[in-house]
Amino acid sequence: MNQFFHKKSIQEIMGNRDKGLEKTLGAFDLVLLGIGAIVGIGILVLTGMIAANYAGPSVIFSFVLAAIICTFVAFCYAELASALPTSGGVYIYSYLTVGELVAFLIGWAQMLMYILAVAAVANGWSAYFVSLLSGFGLEIPKVWHTDPMQGGFVNIPAVVIVLLLTWVLTQGAKESKRITNMMVMIKIIIIALFIVVGIFYVKPDNWTPFMPFGVEGVIGGAAAVFFAFLGFDAVAAAAEEVKNPKRDLPIGIIGSLVVCTILYVVVSLILTGMVPFEQLDVSDAMAFALHAVGQDMVAGILSVGALAGITTVILAYLYAGVRMLFAMSRDKLLPQTFARMDAKTNTPVFSTWLLGLLAAVLGGFVDLKALSDLVNMIALLTFIMVAIAVIMLRRTHTTLQRGFTAPFVPYLPVLVVICSVFLMLKLNQLTWLYLAFWLLLGAISYYMYGQSRIKSNSLNKKAG
Ligand code: ALA
Repeated sequence: MNQFFHKKSIQEIMGNRDKGLEKTLGAFDLVLLGIGAIVGIGILVLTGMIAANYAGPSVIFSFVLAAIICTFVAFCYAELASALPTSGGVYIYSYLTVGELVAFLIGWAQMLMYILAVAAVANGWSAYFVSLLSGFGLEIPKVWHTDPMQGGFVNIPAVVIVLLLTWVLTQGAKESKRITNMMVMIKIIIIALFIVVGIFYVKPDNWTPFMPFGVEGVIGGAAAVFFAFLGFDAVAAAAEEVKNPKRDLPIGIIGSLVVCTILYVVVSLILTGMVPFEQLDVSDAMAFALHAVGQDMVAGILSVGALAGITTVILAYLYAGVRMLFAMSRDKLLPQTFARMDAKTNTPVFSTWLLGLLAAVLGGFVDLKALSDLVNMIALLTFIMVAIAVIMLRRTHTTLQRGFTAPFVPYLPVLVVICSVFLMLKLNQLTWLYLAFWLLLGAISYYMYGQSRIKSNSLNKKAG
C-alpha cells in the first residue's frame, strides 16, 4: 500500500537526466516539433466536416474556444516542463506529486493514447495517399486500403507508413530531427499557400449565416476540434533532449500552440469563405475547396504537402510514446528491456519497434473512428493531472527553480480541471467504458509486475 503512494524526489528524477538521451534540441527545433505534432488531420481532415456538421463558418469560434483551454493547459505544462526537464512528462509530474500508482496509470493511459493517435492519424494519411494516387489514375482496390470493420481487409498504406516511420525513429535523434524539421516546413508552406491563394476566392456571402447551429454548435465544434490541438505535450516529452530546457521548453510549448491557433483560425475563415459550408463534409476539405475554385494544380501540391505534414504527426506521437515507455521502464515499473538503448544510434530500439508494431496493426485492421474519442478522453485526463500537479508542486516544492511560472495559480489550473471535466462529460459512455477497462488492465499489470519484482528481489537477496 505504501508503494502505491510512494513519491519520487526531485533528486531521483533529475539524477536520471544526464544518463539517458543525447541533448540536441534547441527552442526553434521545439517549436517545429510542436507544430509537427499539432498540425495534422485535425486541420487537414476534420475542419471541413466540423464546419459542415457542427458550427458552419463559426467553426473559427470553436477553434478559438478550444485554443483558450489548450493555452491554459500549455501554461501549466510549460511551468512543469521547465522545472523538471526529464523524459516522461505528466507521468513524472504525477510520480512527484501524487504517487507511484497514479503515475503508473497515467503513463499507461498515455501509452494507449499515443498508439491510438498514431493509428488514427495513419488512417488519415492513407486517405490522402489513396486520393492522390487516384488523381494520377492509379486506383488501389478498396480491400487493401480499408479495415475489415468498414468492409475491407487491411489498410496497407497505414501499416506501411507507420512501419517506415518507426524505422526512421530507430535511426537516432539527429537523423529523425532533420527529416522532421524539413517536413514541418513543407507543412507550413502548403498551409501558407492555401491562405495566399484561397484569400482571392473568398465570397463574404458564404459567411452568412455565420452561426447556423447557434452557440450549441460552437461548443460541440470545440469539443470536436479539440483533437486538432493535441500534440503540444510532445514538446514536454522531448525535455531530456533539450540543450537549454528552462528557456527553450516554454518557448516550444506556448510558441507552437500560438502558431497553430493562428493558422487554424485563418484557414477555417478562408475555407468557409471559399465554398458554402454545407459542401465541406469531405475528407480533404482544403484540396476540395481549391478544386472548387479551379485551382487544381495548387490542390495537387497541397495534397503532397499534406502527406508530409501528417507524417510528422505520426513521428511526433511515436517519439513521445517511446519516451514514455523509456521513462517508466527506467523507473522499474515496466521490464528493463524497454529502456535498453542501442549502442550505435543511442535510441531505445526495442520500445520503438514495439510501439510501432502495435500502432501499425491497429492502423491496419481497426476502425478507429469510435476509438478516437478515447484519445480525447485520455488527453483531458492528462490535462487534469497536469493542472493538479502545478498546484501541488507549488505547495510542496516552493524553492524549485522554474524557468517559467504559470499565471493565476491556483485559479488557472482549477479552470483547466473544470473545463476538462466538462468536455469529458460530453464524450459518450462507451468511451468511459474503454477508459475504465484500460485503467483496470493497467492496475492489474502494475500489481502483477510489482509482485514479480518483489519475488526476484528477495531471490537476489537470498542468493547474495
Ligand atoms: N493534432 C493532431 C492532428 O490534428 C493529433 O492530427
